[in-house]
Amino acid sequence: MQKRQIEKHIYWLGAVDWDRRLFDSLIPLPDGTTYNAYLVEGSEKTALLDSVDPPMADELMNQLEHVPKIDFVISHHAEQDHSGTIPRVLERFPDAKVVVTPKAKGMLMDLLRIPEHTFITKEDGETLSLGNKTLKFIHTPWVHWPETMVTYLEEDHILFSCDFFGSHIATSDLFVTDQGRVYEAAKRYFAEIMMPFRSVIEKNIEKLRGYDIRMIAPSHGQICDRPAWIMDAYRDWVTGAPHNLVVLPFVSMHGSTRQMVNHLTSALVEQGVRVELFNLAVTDIGKLAMSLVDAATIVVGVPTVLAGPHPLAAYATFLANALRPKARFLSIIGSYGWGGKTVETLAGMIPNLKVEVLEPVLCKGLPSETDFEALNRLAAAIAQKHKENGFK
Ligand code: FEO
Repeated sequence: MQKRQIEKHIYWLGAVDWDRRLFDSLIPLPDGTTYNAYLVEGSEKTALLDSVDPPMADELMNQLEHVPKIDFVISHHAEQDHSGTIPRVLERFPDAKVVVTPKAKGMLMDLLRIPEHTFITKEDGETLSLGNKTLKFIHTPWVHWPETMVTYLEEDHILFSCDFFGSHIATSDLFVTDQGRVYEAAKRYFAEIMMPFRSVIEKNIEKLRGYDIRMIAPSHGQICDRPAWIMDAYRDWVTGAPHNLVVLPFVSMHGSTRQMVNHLTSALVEQGVRVELFNLAVTDIGKLAMSLVDAATIVVGVPTVLAGPHPLAAYATFLANALRPKARFLSIIGSYGWGGKTVETLAGMIPNLKVEVLEPVLCKGLPSETDFEALNRLAAAIAQKHKENGFK
């Protein structure tokens, strides 16, 4: 794809990765992604903002073929899907300087072996003049690495936000056309990489309040030319109260745990609580992460195997602990054959979660009436907790 104009003297460059299905060998990308770079031509200087993932470097280099000069490469984030092609850009434009936060400088030297003399570091709030265009650098740490920043183009009121406000969707659309689709993809992305840093993200969003942002140009996905909705969505994900929702990741080996999951689901629905089930044998962990953004309660459905929790349930629990969702309650249900330490093992895996643990329900073999009654009590306890806290 050729470079595309966004505004006068401002262009989208980059690559659409239609085929990618996994990021960081971990995160599912059901809709592919894009790596967006941007070219800003001032009356005196030209800046390239970010680059592309190295496997797609040729696309960017072809787009730059007829660009006569680049004075500055703005690197918002050291992760290689945005920074990885900077060394090739520097080969083509050897006099260009790489503009970064002080923290990113060391990271790019480590990750890409870019020589130290190439860098210009910018403190929070500092600017860079391109002549008739001014780039203002706003430090926004932990989106989702410690070195991250965004750039506000003052004269055009455009925020170049890198991962912040981005979404993984491969499309030929330059601007958001389907807000619902982008909302879902952006929420998934927030859940997967930014949710653990909610308190810092909140400060970053607050920091942006003072700016007249008329367009957000992220480095993944489409450009928001009416950015209020995505900023409101982020505020809700970060600071909004949990919903009247139970997220129930589970795995079942011979059907006993599944029976318990089904029974608890019915009991919760009867009590007026919404439930989202995720069968860990087949689920997309991105969908699970997305549900964790809103859930008030997590219930893990887990059979005992090899004297402990099924590894898929242990994986989901590890993930939930790492993502630090705002859930307030947690319980464990499941079946065992003859014994084991399933509850103790899982309970020891959630030090990051600020949750009250509700009485687990474990049964031996197939669940009996007594076990179903215990599940009814768990459903009632969850409904009561949600009600007491005003979760809607
Ligand atoms: Fe899109 Fe954190 O890189």
